[in-house]
Amino acid sequence: MAGKIREVKDAFGKVHQFAEGLEGVIATTTEICFIDGQAGKLMYRGIPIEQLAEHSTYEETSFFLLYGHLPTSRELGDFIRRLKSHRAVANEVFDIVRNLPKSAAPMSMLRTAISSLGHFDQDAEDDSLEKHYQRAEHLIAAFPTVAAGIQRIRKGLEPIAPDPELGHAANFLYMLNGERPTDYAARVMDVALILHAEHGFNASTFTARVIISTLSDMYSAVTGAIGSLKGPLHGGANERVMRMLMEIGSADRAEDIILQKLRNKDKIMGFGHRVYRALDPRAKILMQFSQKLAEQVGDTRWYDISKKIQEVMEREVGHKGIYPNVDFFSASLYYYLGIEVEMYTPIFAVSRVAGWTAHVVEQLKHNRIFRPRSVYLGPAHMDYVPLDQRTES
Ligand code: CMC
Repeated sequence: MAGKIREVKDAFGKVHQFAEGLEGVIATTTEICFIDGQAGKLMYRGIPIEQLAEHSTYEETSFFLLYGHLPTSRELGDFIRRLKSHRAVANEVFDIVRNLPKSAAPMSMLRTAISSLGHFDQDAEDDSLEKHYQRAEHLIAAFPTVAAGIQRIRKGLEPIAPDPELGHAANFLYMLNGERPTDYAARVMDVALILHAEHGFNASTFTARVIISTLSDMYSAVTGAIGSLKGPLHGGANERVMRMLMEIGSADRAEDIILQKLRNKDKIMGFGHRVYRALDPRAKILMQFSQKLAEQVGDTRWYDISKKIQEVMEREVGHKGIYPNVDFFSASLYYYLGIEVEMYTPIFAVSRVAGWTAHVVEQLKHNRIFRPRSVYLGPAHMDYVPLDQRTES
């Protein structure tokens, strides 16, 4: 056992030691992802993330995560064709979204929409491995369409049909904004999707694996994962980062505001990680793209504020191993790409579905139901009191 160990005495006087939040606990094995938190290293199936960010595409990375080998050019071509043919989603799914309150959070809408996709899959209960792979591909293909459609509907607009001439990332930006992105914007989004695609036993992936470990279905696993990703301690942090940058407003105000937040014991969004004690390698790459985009659009404000926060945080809490995580520089980067803040976490989901589905398939290959225990701290014994004998306190 590693990490923060808690020792408690249960209701019967027995002492237990455990790792709160399952820190350092090994739940099973995986071949999909390796993280060296001390050295700030991340690999998907053995390939360093830097190499994938430089040379791969989201489509290729998804194939690699799912099938376990880099595709040949024929395999990749076929995979891309299959993804394109599954981009469109049933109109009924968008009807469900249209009937949700406009005030609903996009991540909650995404959760409902993806859950409803399962009802339009006639084979949803077929649990053969072959069907799981197909379903994984369908979900990877459909997520951008659903997420972009949700944002269009929220704005009172019609969803835009996918453009078969565009790659996965470019098509997503096109369906979101209604215009074809520049090659550079498309590549930046592609890299962001690669970087967010997988990250080991994070909360949402673990959620997906726990759900599928009961031999439930892939839609349930992925829907649960979306719910888990939504939280600000996980994927929801990227939206909070942008709102913090907006609250700060200019780099010269950053130091005072961050110091005040630290004095208040607030968590600074986009910093810290359960596994990394060094700079998250994804943050390093996103930082470079954020800087380039800032210069290209001629507005370095959000990048400058981010750099100032990074400087203050490293000085104040760097000794605790707290550094920017993937959510920190993705915030300014998405802003420079012209994406509305409430879509930042759905973008995370659009990417992470590749990792979730790869893990679902892997879990099923050597499944054992997850069923941990907890320490009981309630009363050792209580007798039932009939309703008419209970007193109001
Ligand atoms: N700002 C200030 N202090 C922090 C932060 C932060 N963001 N994160 C951790 N700390 C401190 C914390 O106060 C504690 O200090 P002490 O030991 O003196 O009490 C120490 O670092 C350990 O923190 P912890 O809360 O025990 O760490 P954890 O492993 O339970 O939580 C975390 C990890 C990511 C939830 C947490 O760092 C956090 O809340 N960060 C902000 C939210 C965030 O950016 N989340 C995205 C995570 S990465 C991408 C993703 O999964 O989506």
